[in-house]
Amino acid sequence: MKLNIALLAGDGIGPEVIDQAVKVCNAVAEKYQHELHWKPALTGAAAIDAVGDPYPEETHEICAGSDAVLFGAIGHPRFDNDPSAKVRPEQGLLRMRQKLGLFANVRPTFTFPSLIDKSPLKRERIEGTDLVFLRELTGGIYFGKRGREDNGDTAFDTCTYTRKEVQRLAKKGFEMAMKRSGKLCCVDKANVLESSRLWRETVQAMEKDYPEVTVSYEFVDAVAMRLVQWPNAYDVLITENLFGDILTDEASVISGSMGLMPSASIGDSIGLYEPIHGSYPQAAGKDVANPLATVLSAAMMFEDFDLMDEASAIRNVVNRSLSEGIVTEDLAEGGKAFKTSEVGDWLAEHL
Ligand code: IPM
Ligand code: MG
Repeated sequence: MKLNIALLAGDGIGPEVIDQAVKVCNAVAEKYQHELHWKPALTGAAAIDAVGDPYPEETHEICAGSDAVLFGAIGHPRFDNDPSAKVRPEQGLLRMRQKLGLFANVRPTFTFPSLIDKSPLKRERIEGTDLVFLRELTGGIYFGKRGREDNGDTAFDTCTYTRKEVQRLAKKGFEMAMKRSGKLCCVDKANVLESSRLWRETVQAMEKDYPEVTVSYEFVDAVAMRLVQWPNAYDVLITENLFGDILTDEASVISGSMGLMPSASIGDSIGLYEPIHGSYPQAAGKDVANPLATVLSAAMMFEDFDLMDEASAIRNVVNRSLSEGIVTEDLAEGGKAFKTSEVGDWLAEHL
């Protein structure tokens, strides 16, 4: 297969972890005879510095003209404590999601047998956890009307959803549930929010088209609690943008490290693959960050191209590196800590 992949390294540790994913993908391509063409493009604070825009038009054209986007991380501390900043790296990410039509964010949460004791949660609660969130990504409060009134003393953000937006996300959720255990949980706040009532009513109306799927409806506050108590109770969860943002960070605790969790953002055509962790600016340039979440995101990319053997090969070599202790400092626990680039080299070599 011949694939053009836009490469958006972004900020902080982004470039370092992306380099390792590229090494691993190239090794996969060699082994399975694919042709990968990488198209680097600017985004985030790096793009603000270079051209004054976190998601320049040129970057958009490169992404839109590729088969997939591999993304590192964006964000820089110099913007975080400056409420008056006019342009922010994060705006680039939001604009990119919207312009590329990436309405569903797929965030799996699973445990690694060799790392189960890294999680702050008890082994018996999390063992065997294998769930996936489908977070709506281009609607809701992130994109609703916002502003100030009352000379700036009142502020508002609005959460708006259309039935169509809920249907297209829920459709992906039902389809995913059918491929897995047939269990789907719709997470909302229908006891309070009108937009949540639209979600629930829309999903309920779709149930008849998917008789194999059992749907449960749960309030987001209860899910926040049950997720860390009985994560095994869940399989596929669908939810709106902000609830999904919060719950997926919470869920990453189950696996024991944010440095391990991949994600995919999908829509009608192109997919974007990125680690769920941020730009970790304190570690930038030090060659210490864990590249595995980015490498596993690349595995999700191969899977979306129906290249299942390639995806499994990546997951297997990652598992092997973990059990053989070829790990970065976050997982080294007093043992030898390997550099980001050494982990990447090891993975590429052992594929
Ligand atoms: C995420 C991040 C982003 C979000 C930020 C960086 C805008 O937290 O991908 O979860 O809130 O969606
Ligand atoms: Mg988030």
